[in-house]
Amino acid sequence: MSQSKATVLVTGGAGYIGSHAVLALLEAGYNVVVLDNLVYGHRDIVEDVLKVKLVVGDTNDRVLLDNLFSDYDISAVMHFAAYAYVGE
Ligand SMILES: NC(=O)c1ccc[n+]([C@@H]2O[C@H](COP(=O)([O-])OP(=O)(O)OC[C@H]3O[C@@H](n4cnc5c(N)ncnc54)[C@H](O)[C@@H]3O)[C@@H](O)[C@H]2O)c1
Repeated sequence: MSQSKATVLVTGGAGYIGSHAVLALLEAGYNVVVLDNLVYGHRDIVEDVLKVKLVVGDTNDRVLLDNLFSDYDISAVMHFAAYAYVGE
């Protein structure tokens, strides 16, 4: 019987790089929670395609982060949330 693997919080997981990281984590058997403010990310990719929990919010929101770490047994964070475009 296989044990379930750790839960990884992926910030920016609704974006380009983050969503591919989520896919790779799922294929490796990890549980994933996504935190994304959806300024650029895509809700449907996370909820309908990747089918993982999406928390809509900002990495600067300390209270939200405290609640996230209380609600989920998060073992690792992969941080892709960023405003990555040259103009920004
Ligand atoms: N795209 C590339 O080719 C590439 C290459 C190397 C490195 N990177 C790096 O990877 C990271 C992600 O880039 P990307 O191309 O996936 O960008 P992206 O815009 O597609 O994804 C970033 C995601 O972060 C979210 N986000 C931004 N600020 C946030 C915040 N404060 N709180 C919560 N969510 C927030 C956005 O809504 C978006 O979904 C960046 O650091 C970028 O520099 C990207």
